[in-house]
Amino acid sequence: MAIKINFNGCIEETASVSAFDHGFLFGDSVYEVVATHNNLPCFLNEHLNRLRQSANAIALKIPWTDDQFKTEISRTIQEAGNPESYVRIIVTRGEGEIDIDPSSCHKPNILLYVTPLKSFPEEYYQDGVGISLVSIKRNSKDALNPGIKTGNYLNNVLAQIEAIKSGAKDALMLNNDGYLTECTTSNFFMVRNGALLTPSLGCGILSGITREVILKLANENGILVEEGKWLPEELDRVEETFISGSIKKIMPVCRIDNRLIGEGKVGPVTKKLIKLYSSVLENIGATSFQN
Ligand SMILES: Cc1ncc(COP(=O)(O)O)c(C=O)c1O
Repeated sequence: MAIKINFNGCIEETASVSAFDHGFLFGDSVYEVVATHNNLPCFLNEHLNRLRQSANAIALKIPWTDDQFKTEISRTIQEAGNPESYVRIIVTRGEGEIDIDPSSCHKPNILLYVTPLKSFPEEYYQDGVGISLVSIKRNSKDALNPGIKTGNYLNNVLAQIEAIKSGAKDALMLNNDGYLTECTTSNFFMVRNGALLTPSLGCGILSGITREVILKLANENGILVEEGKWLPEELDRVEETFISGSIKKIMPVCRIDNRLIGEGKVGPVTKKLIKLYSSVLENIGATSFQN
């Protein structure tokens, strides 16, 4: 089991980023997290697309092509030699003056972290987890838009601190209008009368790669899908809830604070989607480094 860090193309066990890097000074960076399956990165093209969209949104020019990313990611995964890897891609604004103005930064830094992929305890998937509806609001779309995946996650860190204090595994946040959005590093889904409900992108959320796969699977398999706006009272009416993300995949949620969801057990729609999602992963194989 090894950790390897690819820093601008050089693979090391550790890496040091300058104290003058604006990623460190101001959270001025973008990132992606990719999991491997059979040691191949899942949905890599989708992650690289989103990385570029995030970079465009903060006027950051990424110096590598997608092919360069793929070569370097593949090389680093191989050097690490883990059974399965967690891959974190970070592009920072680079070194500059201690000044909020990014124009003194001329060379973005690219870091690829490859570490052993840690799996969550099996009981999280068998029994579901508890999350907390926290007081911290998701960033407004008019401020740091949650649709951009930047290195500035302090708002979500604060939400997670609040959730952990109450013994929950993740924090569900509302937007400023009081509608449900998403968790700190995952999207949020509900099941009502067998239909799949999830906050729309307009609520101010990250367009999760896993979320997109789930919506496609639901559509292809006869599960009615509704993307919309829901107040927290909706949680009393739903039968099932779950969260999704590249690392946690589909994780059932059976309790939100003191409220049991449905019968407090993993429901049939969640189970069906977990099964469908794992067959997508099984088939990812050789396509993972193709365009
Ligand atoms: C705020 C937020 N929402 C949702 C997700 C899930 O996105 P994905 O499925 O692309 O991993 C993440 C992932 O880190 C996230 O940070």
